[in-house]
Amino acid sequence: MTDHYAVVGNPIAHSKSPFIHRFFATQTAQDMEYRAELGDTLNFEDQVSKWFDSGLKGLNVTLPFKERALALATIRTPRAERAGAANTLRFNLVKRELEADNTDGIGLMRDLQNCFNMQLEGMRILVLGAGGATRGILGPILESQPSAVVLTNRTEERARILIQAMQSAPGSHALIMNSPKQLELHKEGFDLVINATSSSLTGDVPEIPENVWSMNTKAYDLAYAPSGQTAFLSLAQSKGVTECSDGLGMLVEQAAEAFYWWRGVVPETQSVLQAIRTVMAAQ
Ligand code: ATR
Repeated sequence: MTDHYAVVGNPIAHSKSPFIHRFFATQTAQDMEYRAELGDTLNFEDQVSKWFDSGLKGLNVTLPFKERALALATIRTPRAERAGAANTLRFNLVKRELEADNTDGIGLMRDLQNCFNMQLEGMRILVLGAGGATRGILGPILESQPSAVVLTNRTEERARILIQAMQSAPGSHALIMNSPKQLELHKEGFDLVINATSSSLTGDVPEIPENVWSMNTKAYDLAYAPSGQTAFLSLAQSKGVTECSDGLGMLVEQAAEAFYWWRGVVPETQSVLQAIRTVMAAQ
């Protein structure tokens, strides 16, 4: 019997999740269908309940519903709890309850490994932004024992609140907040600068001082673009950074982890990544 899955968001037409999961299903010979659903901001909870009542096996959740998806679930993985948001739901057939996970952080960690062959242990990391995207990735970053994680945000208060929320997370002693001015004190630069703001969506770049970049800095933007180039990555390159990546690989890796959580099968990710790049370049 064919199992049914979906992604919900608002807007949803741009979502690459159907392409990715259908690709994985074919590749691993899973009998499943995957559709996109436009979320109703007023009746999201009812929608989700109806879908699962009618036999849906699993649901990916994207903006703006990730926090509400977590609240809906009665079983939550520690990483979803820590992220304060869920990007993946499944119906637990044994307990007959809704279960939530968050695969965004692990998606980033895998893609950093793929792109830069990078382990974060002992690294000095600068994270730009203090919104939902940052909250999703901080847990796994801190767990990988970097020597320092510096968080900076246009609105300082938001960064302060996020650091507070992460206080009991493993590895949180490495996490500090800096204003753009305080960043100037890091004369030696950072090993990795992650743009987790939504600035690339409008072609902007967050304010950061020159000294964050060193010869060996790697730059990663959670946002992605058809060319693989975002405003933030262009800035990094203009400062001499040679190892750069947008977040398309993270998107594919978070999907692969969700697929594994649902199906117990690990898909291969690089071929779908190449296929999406080809499709995006042709659009
Ligand atoms: P997301 O879920 O994508 O993280 P969000 O929760 O709205 O979205 O957070 C957006 C983040 O990008 C915030 O950190 C925001 O900074 P503020 O808290 O000051 O609003 C940041 N951001 C968005 N546009 C930006 C820009 N042009 N320059 C700097 N930071 C920006």
